[in-house]
Amino acid sequence: MAEKILLTGGAGYIGSHTYVALVEAGYEVTILDNFQNANRSVIARLEQLTGKPVPLAEADVRDATTLASLFADHQFDAVVHFAALKAVAESVERPLDYFDVNIGGLITLLRVMEAAGCRTIVFSSSATVYGVPDETPTPETAEFRAMNPYGQTKVSGEQILNQLVAADARWAVGILRYFNPAGAHDSALIGEDPRDTPNNLMPFIAKVAAGEHPELQVFGDDYDTPDGTGVRDYIHVEDLARGHVLSLSSLLGKRQTHLVNLGTGEGHSVLQMVAAYKRASNRDVPYSVTARRAGDVPVYVAQAEKAEEILGFRTVRSLDEMCASSWKWIAGPHSKEDPGSEGDA
Ligand code: NAD
Ligand code: UD1
Repeated sequence: MAEKILLTGGAGYIGSHTYVALVEAGYEVTILDNFQNANRSVIARLEQLTGKPVPLAEADVRDATTLASLFADHQFDAVVHFAALKAVAESVERPLDYFDVNIGGLITLLRVMEAAGCRTIVFSSSATVYGVPDETPTPETAEFRAMNPYGQTKVSGEQILNQLVAADARWAVGILRYFNPAGAHDSALIGEDPRDTPNNLMPFIAKVAAGEHPELQVFGDDYDTPDGTGVRDYIHVEDLARGHVLSLSSLLGKRQTHLVNLGTGEGHSVLQMVAAYKRASNRDVPYSVTARRAGDVPVYVAQAEKAEEILGFRTVRSLDEMCASSWKWIAGPHSKEDPGSEGDA
């Protein structure tokens, strides 16, 4: 019989792509989302993509009563936990909201799981836990250096999970540190389209290519990088989704807790991203160079070998595929249905 999975935040950017990957892998998946940062129309498009109804609980992950009744009804084998707030600048302005949803929500979920005897969870962490790392590509052994409340919630989430495993070996936990997710599903039925002016590079470039913003501001060209602009490890969201399937199946099979980076191991500069997007969209992407952005990291690139050793995970999609799928989504009819999902976590 198919294993039953609870997918929190499954209507969001990464969660929706992971839903499709999990269903394709044969899991029976229920989405829990409060639609705080997603549109209900995503659900119909997930149904179109998978060809079956989407089991959905519209609820807050901090709502222990609803969670407990969901566990009683479904007897989940595992949870993949995406539901969180993720805008860095907002987390500086409203830290308590971030601690409440990201840390409070995790604790509520873990307590309900414990009571239901479900002790398997995949957790969304982020490269942001490294702050400004000493070493690039950055290994999982680099120390925690969260630079803002959002980053602090990911550090705390990881620590809570590690201490839980240390206290009770029945828990099996997969901590996945994502680098910079980009692109959209190949079908152009799901993707990412921030409702306001995007803070992050990929959605901003997409809006400039689409003519919704006149130009991109390149935040500094005097970094110690090949062309002076910031370098990041962009990972296709469909590769990232597959990483979750591998983490989950490893946890359910071997029951070995793991912590891995999910990235490609390759960095691309802002100007390389602009060039790649121009190729993919066949549109111009005008830009001007401005001052560095406060708090920016010069280079973020994953050491990607551990995910391959432990999970057999390797990215297969190129930067050109990320840009092409992003453009197909942005230029297609469905991106405007979403109020958006700001990709700045
Ligand atoms: P997203 O905002 O698109 O998805 C999060 C989903 O969670 C949304 O559908 C939202 O409605 C839901 N949600 C928020 N608060 C909730 C609550 N209290 N109860 C129930 N549902 C709630 O974000 P995403 O980019 O898909 O990110 C998913 C996860 O990955 C988050 O934990 C995020 O911190 C992490 N992450 C994202 C990135 C990135 O760059 N996108 C990078 C590293 C880590
Ligand atoms: C963001 C988060 C970081 C998180 C990371 C992971 C901030 C301040 N930081 O940063 O905590 O770990 O996502 O996804 O939000 N750029 C421009 N012009 C723009 C936008 C970006 O030049 O309009 C540059 C940036 O300076 C950077 C690169 O593009 O060099 C990528 O920026 P962005 O997409 O915001 O991601 P992160 O900087 O990694």
